[in-house]
Amino acid sequence: MLRVVGLLGLLLPGLAALEPLSVGLAIGVASALTGYLSHPRFYCSYVECCPSAGRRLNATALKLQLDTKLFGQHLAKEVVLKAVMGFSNNPSPKKPLMLSLHGWAGTGKNFLSQILAEHVHPAGLRSKFVHLFLATLHFPHHDQVKTYKEQLQNWIRGNVSACPHSVFIFDEMDKMHPGLIDAIKPFLDYYEQVDGVSYRKAIFIFLSNAGGDLINKAALDFWASGKRREEIQLKDLEPMLSVGVFNNKNSGLWHSSLIDRNLIDYFVPFLPLEHKHVKMCVRAEMIARGYAVDENIVQAVADEMTFFPKEQKIYSDKGCKTVQAKLDIHEDIVMRDPKAKG
Ligand SMILES: Nc1ncnc2c1ncn2[C@@H]1O[C@H](COP(=O)(O)OP(=O)(O)OP(=O)(O)O)[C@@H](O)[C@H]1O
Ligand SMILES: [Mg+2]
Repeated sequence: MLRVVGLLGLLLPGLAALEPLSVGLAIGVASALTGYLSHPRFYCSYVECCPSAGRRLNATALKLQLDTKLFGQHLAKEVVLKAVMGFSNNPSPKKPLMLSLHGWAGTGKNFLSQILAEHVHPAGLRSKFVHLFLATLHFPHHDQVKTYKEQLQNWIRGNVSACPHSVFIFDEMDKMHPGLIDAIKPFLDYYEQVDGVSYRKAIFIFLSNAGGDLINKAALDFWASGKRREEIQLKDLEPMLSVGVFNNKNSGLWHSSLIDRNLIDYFVPFLPLEHKHVKMCVRAEMIARGYAVDENIVQAVADEMTFFPKEQKIYSDKGCKTVQAKLDIHEDIVMRDPKAKG
């Protein structure tokens, strides 16, 4: 914007030397140019802008992305779509959207948050309106909780003032000092404004492994009783998850007033991934790297993963997390075969 104003400033002295008619014309052109350059459509194609107040999320596009990219997580998909659609269709939400994602390692919690963030701000995690906090990086010292609380509140206040549609992702919640997260309670509550700032358009996402063991057990029970994975419903997991996390000292939400006050809108369970899902991840990764899918490699990578429980070996220990690294090793072989490159 400053640059646009500067342009007009540069033009004006030169205009004095011109005839009155030409001066009028030049001023007209300059102000039209200024108006055009400062128009949000032009300006925002070069500088990232906060979405306008009335902008809605494209739920159809989000659904398509989740359907094609997120494997084996019918519950997470369903809940997140419902939550996002409800939130973005509501022109005046009563509180910010607050999701808590739970599940075993490598099941897609960061992956889904990234997809969601990209739907709010196309630059995703690179956006200046998307903020990722890592407990071990940003809040490592348990004796500095008081300072962290203040910093966190200031950071959130400042950023929501700048863009009401800000997205805050708290990763490694299970490593967060219990009590720290309660610092954000005033922002998550049903207040119209806090100190002149409205937080109602913001999105808060918690990611954690806490409750993953409960989800895994429930999934295994379903499997043992011969039921299909897709038959697991949210009501089979959500209540158990909120209670489990509230009572878990290592969840970051231990005795949290966020749960007490029902400020977490959805507990989103991520199911442990099976052999077939790992293979789907390998195929997706090969395609992303520009290779034709080679089923021998898909099988080889999946076979290198470890599975639990020890006897039945149904669920991947690390979900799809180590697929990329394992594929790196096989990539050498693929690279040597020119036919394999898609
Ligand atoms: N359900 C899934 N569908 C498709 N790809 C997945 C899925 N889960 C994991 N992946 C792939 O594995 C990578 C690692 O997953 P991600 O970081 O989302 O796991 P996570 O659930 O956050 O694990 P952790 O609890 O260990 O942090 C993703 O970037 C993605 O490529
Ligand atoms: Mg993660």
